[in-house]
Amino acid sequence: MTNSESVLLSPIESFANRVWMAPLTRSRSTMPGNIPNDLMATYYEQRATAGLIIAEATPISSTAHGYYATPGIHTDAQQAGWKAVTDRVHAKGGKIFLQLWHVGRVSNNALQPDNQAPVGPTDVISQSKTYIDSSLERQDNSKPRALRTEEIPGIVEDFASATKRAKAAGFDGVEIHGANTYLLDQFTRDGVNTRTDQYGGSLENRLHFPLMVARAVTEAWGDPSGVGYRISPLSEHKDVRDSDPQATFSTLAAGLGALNLEYLHAVETWDRTSLDPRVETVIPAIVKSFKDAGGKLYIANGDYSPQQAEDAVDSGWADAVAFGRPWIPNPDLPARIAMGGPYREPIPESFYGGGAEGYTEFQTLKQEEEAAHS
Ligand code: FNR
Repeated sequence: MTNSESVLLSPIESFANRVWMAPLTRSRSTMPGNIPNDLMATYYEQRATAGLIIAEATPISSTAHGYYATPGIHTDAQQAGWKAVTDRVHAKGGKIFLQLWHVGRVSNNALQPDNQAPVGPTDVISQSKTYIDSSLERQDNSKPRALRTEEIPGIVEDFASATKRAKAAGFDGVEIHGANTYLLDQFTRDGVNTRTDQYGGSLENRLHFPLMVARAVTEAWGDPSGVGYRISPLSEHKDVRDSDPQATFSTLAAGLGALNLEYLHAVETWDRTSLDPRVETVIPAIVKSFKDAGGKLYIANGDYSPQQAEDAVDSGWADAVAFGRPWIPNPDLPARIAMGGPYREPIPESFYGGGAEGYTEFQTLKQEEEAAHS
């Protein structure tokens, strides 16, 4: 059965289709130096039929790192490595944004310059775990140091410099990583941000730093059509929660919409079989705030099957859907959607670290057919 009439395969704005690739940390950069390499270029090139590839979360400065072997965008060598990636994707007709990342307190001293403490809004330790070397053994995060008020503009500047490097590296745009418990999320939510300066306390104060970053990145890119922002408003883990996600993220979304950003991207859930009932009310309220203020597209993410994604776009819930795990073993996901499948299942053991196995070895339907007829 074919499914070539799928609305997911129709274009939107400057994007060839609505089957986007969500950012996926794969920890395969060249160490030392966190440098994007040829294997990574092959991986992204193989997925160039996405309406948009959002490349993996990429640290914007030396203090922004929180996991071993994640590629950066703060040195000349990293920039050159990314240029080779974007050239390969563009040669295949693809489009690629870079996700700009500062992990904040989700890090370990071993990943920081001179073994310093990671920085965050406060000195409260993150309860999540990280990996600090190629063994990928999970380690506790280190106790962070609370950023001083006067240090905040420097981090905003790091986001702007990384944006300029991303542009020089040939990306078509950047996505600001405001999701999943990292630095911007730590400032946004009242469960974590207990600061008493102008960057904490009231909702307006908590959004001060994230919106400064969004403004600086948009200015550095030079055009809001090259900027997206990712949130995960309903995810909850220990202190990483908010007492009123609808108010917090609708206000943030209005601020982002006022900058005319190209898209707002939300991780709605990681598991649709136990969907938080608040998704149905909170997400549309946030999207409405974003669009009413002047923002363009809403990109939905989170455990979508192709059929659920089709329904989401068809019903007007989302303008496009970003798939994460499905892209890992299905490098030609849009072609598979056009054919109505089949889809391979991802293999979690090869998500992080390692080489080609579980990364670049998956064949397209076309390659499978050619192999069958040879
Ligand atoms: C992720 N996710 C993620 N999110 C993000 O904003 N930046 C990132 O770099 C990563 N890295 C990452 C690595 C791996 C291996 C997984 C499985 C997930 C989250 C991801 O983008 C997405 O939100 C979730 O995977 C849920 O979507 P799917 O996979 O159900 O379509």
